[in-house]
Amino acid sequence: MTHPGLTDRFGRVHRDLRISLTDRCSLRCTYCMPAEGVQWLQRDTMLTTDEIVRVARVAVDMGINEIRLTGGEPLLRADVVDVVDRLSNLRGPAGHPELSVTTNALRLPALADKLHDAGLKRVNVSLDTLRRDRFIELTRRDKLTETLAGIAAAEAAGLTPIKINAVAMRGVNDDEVVDLTQFCVDRSYQMRFIEQMPLDPGHTWDRKEMVTGEEILAQLTQRWTLTERGDRGAAPAQVWDIDGGPSSVGVIASVTAPFCGTCDRVRLTADGQLRACLFARQESDIRGLLRDGSDDEALADAIAACLQLKRPGHDIDNPDFLQPDRPMSAIGG
Ligand code: 5AD
Ligand code: SF4
Repeated sequence: MTHPGLTDRFGRVHRDLRISLTDRCSLRCTYCMPAEGVQWLQRDTMLTTDEIVRVARVAVDMGINEIRLTGGEPLLRADVVDVVDRLSNLRGPAGHPELSVTTNALRLPALADKLHDAGLKRVNVSLDTLRRDRFIELTRRDKLTETLAGIAAAEAAGLTPIKINAVAMRGVNDDEVVDLTQFCVDRSYQMRFIEQMPLDPGHTWDRKEMVTGEEILAQLTQRWTLTERGDRGAAPAQVWDIDGGPSSVGVIASVTAPFCGTCDRVRLTADGQLRACLFARQESDIRGLLRDGSDDEALADAIAACLQLKRPGHDIDNPDFLQPDRPMSAIGG
């Protein structure tokens, strides 16, 4: 049974809480952060680990059964292993929440085993290119080798199935769709291509320029026979078996085929603001409640109230669509 407060005005039951542990990052992906002059969140506005665990406990009691740690780069948080340990031990009506992390993999050689032992189940690694020159251009850091080492470390630690996320960008990496997929097929990883959403710091996103899911599929079907998997549930990715399986590839067509109707996600920013959508125009100030002596019931009410504000869809195609004020690095993917 989930708390009625996790059901929004459109009947969507929320199960997935994404918690951003920090807005800092060790890379500077062009679609996510500016090269210089990031407005970092103020230290004293960042939730402490006790505060994060408290919000998560209330949410898990309400019926959240999946927690995804995001950033910025979540593994830059100094006590991330402790955070994972404490969150994975929460227990709600649906049992322990399943814990995963979205990461750039750079700290995984040092942390993968410890995270696994602390209760982490899986990792989603962001990897947009396999070519060193492009990696440098895209992330503004020369770290492809380290990223690949991090992915291997996650695999060795049993943080599987490993998912690799790539944002497809025209003229940047859209000719690597097959190569990235082959890289994953060879290692039994799951490749996921994401349509770029208007979240870039320079506000240069252009619908007409975007690489569509259809284009990605067209490239894949030139190389492989794809069979669509049914029963997608609340998952953003549409998944295809490659040559009859067991390998698969997914496309997250957030823009051309929005999946807002089945969205079960809600996001907590590193500074304690709850967002019912990546593109929410309003945030709920959970940090304020955590610090003014409010009880758990008030926290649950605030979570429920936030979901009541959730709109039916992202409206990216609407002429008066507004890009969120926060950069992606301060929202969490
Ligand atoms: N559109 C789609 N995906 C994005 N990500 C970051 N910015 C965007 C965007 N504008 C992805 C990253 C990472 C996850 C956190 O979100 O590649 O995989
Ligand atoms: Fe860092 Fe991820 Fe943003 Fe790249 S997309 S700069 S890895 S937070």
